[in-house]
Amino acid sequence: MSDLDQVTLSAGDKLVSLPVLKPTLGNSCIDISKLTKETGLFTYDSGFTATASCKSAITYIDGDAGVLLYRGYPIEQLARQSTFLEVAYLLMNGELPSRGEMTAFDREVAHQAMMHESLRKFLNGFNYDAHPMAMLCGSVASLSGFHHDTLDLSDPEHRRQAAIRLIAKVPTMAAAAHRYSIGWPIRYPRYNLDYVSRFLHMMFELPSEPLELNPIVAKALDLLFILHADHEQNASTSTVRLVGSTGANPYASVAAGIAALWGPAHGGANEAVLKMLEEIGDARHVDAAVAKAKDKESGFRLMGFGHRIYKNFDPRATIIREMTHKVLGELGVNDPLLEVALKLEEAALKDDYFIQRKLYPNVDFYSGIIYKALNIPTEMFTVMFAIARTAGWVAHWLEQQVDPEAKIGRPRQVYTGHAKRDYVGIDSRK
Ligand code: ACO
Repeated sequence: MSDLDQVTLSAGDKLVSLPVLKPTLGNSCIDISKLTKETGLFTYDSGFTATASCKSAITYIDGDAGVLLYRGYPIEQLARQSTFLEVAYLLMNGELPSRGEMTAFDREVAHQAMMHESLRKFLNGFNYDAHPMAMLCGSVASLSGFHHDTLDLSDPEHRRQAAIRLIAKVPTMAAAAHRYSIGWPIRYPRYNLDYVSRFLHMMFELPSEPLELNPIVAKALDLLFILHADHEQNASTSTVRLVGSTGANPYASVAAGIAALWGPAHGGANEAVLKMLEEIGDARHVDAAVAKAKDKESGFRLMGFGHRIYKNFDPRATIIREMTHKVLGELGVNDPLLEVALKLEEAALKDDYFIQRKLYPNVDFYSGIIYKALNIPTEMFTVMFAIARTAGWVAHWLEQQVDPEAKIGRPRQVYTGHAKRDYVGIDSRK
């Protein structure tokens, strides 16, 4: 952290003093909010690589040291000792719950898990082969049409209820989207199951026989959900905040987050990893794939490698790598794609191109393999990510609603178009 309390910028004949903000952990930030008023200058930072968009007390990442903290707790400890629902409570409320608070939270989420029957009909309007992310995005946005009686955003209880509804209903809608696409009748959420088992039941129970839930599967999924629950101001969370900054309701804001998550540079990467491994097909083709990824002309990147923030290792990838081997061993899965994945990991880690650019396997590299072992269809991978990240999205949305410094998000631009010119009638154009 820098010791500076302020920096001085020299702009022509003007010296401007800019205060330096000190975070609890991490890099100090120059507060440039007065810069334009004093100098007429904007700043340019495409992709926000050096720009903080808000103050937040939820998640801390040190990309160089491979540190990830939720509300101060290291991800390794939460992965070992907590559950996803407890993590969701922690992210939302700032502290770990007492036993009584946890029981009440668990019960409230269970009782909010049902979706309105009309929402089921809404899903039925999609084509049978629609991508489940399209169905999830649409159905989450439509929640604002069902719960508008509790959308007074100045009421803390309304805000809390919206957050709980989102955490509770997203898995129900996700499972319904999956079952619709394979032509199975939907399963209603069971109150007597824990969060993850309830989701697995809605996903996999056959219409004709009860489902025997495998505790290894439930444990693995719970861990994956913990690892994906939040990641500070990533693209989808920043989208939720940007939409939320306009006063839009939380369902619309989270639906926008889901849309942002869908892209292959973000949450869509886990699906892209599996597709890539299938295309490589055989461990013998790995070297050729690595060579192609290094060739800029090819336009091909190794999916699941690299991260905007983690430039040494992704702590989630370390946890999940261990889990991958354990799950495949315990479930007795012998997947040839795992061999391709491990060979790829090995080849890339010793290659100068990847070393110099600090490109390491990220969390999505392994999560796809686990999802496959758990029989989650490939097109559902990003949906799984969305279920987990809903906990982070609602925590950030709640935080933003009470942030006294929050403003509508409105970036500036460096205009590169034409200078002012006169309109030319169609017959006079060249
Ligand atoms: N394969 C090959 N080369 C890569 C890869 C990759 N996966 N990722 C980055 N590079 C190269 C770039 O070509 C560039 O090379 P250059 O310096 O010679 O031009 C250099 O590494 C830096 O790349 P940037 O795109 O500038 O890095 P940035 O931090 O902006 O991007 C990102 C990070 C988007 C994750 C990128 O590494 C990527 O596309 N990875 C593959 C997709 C992926 O796995 N996304 C998941 C992200 S994690 C998540 O959402 C949970």
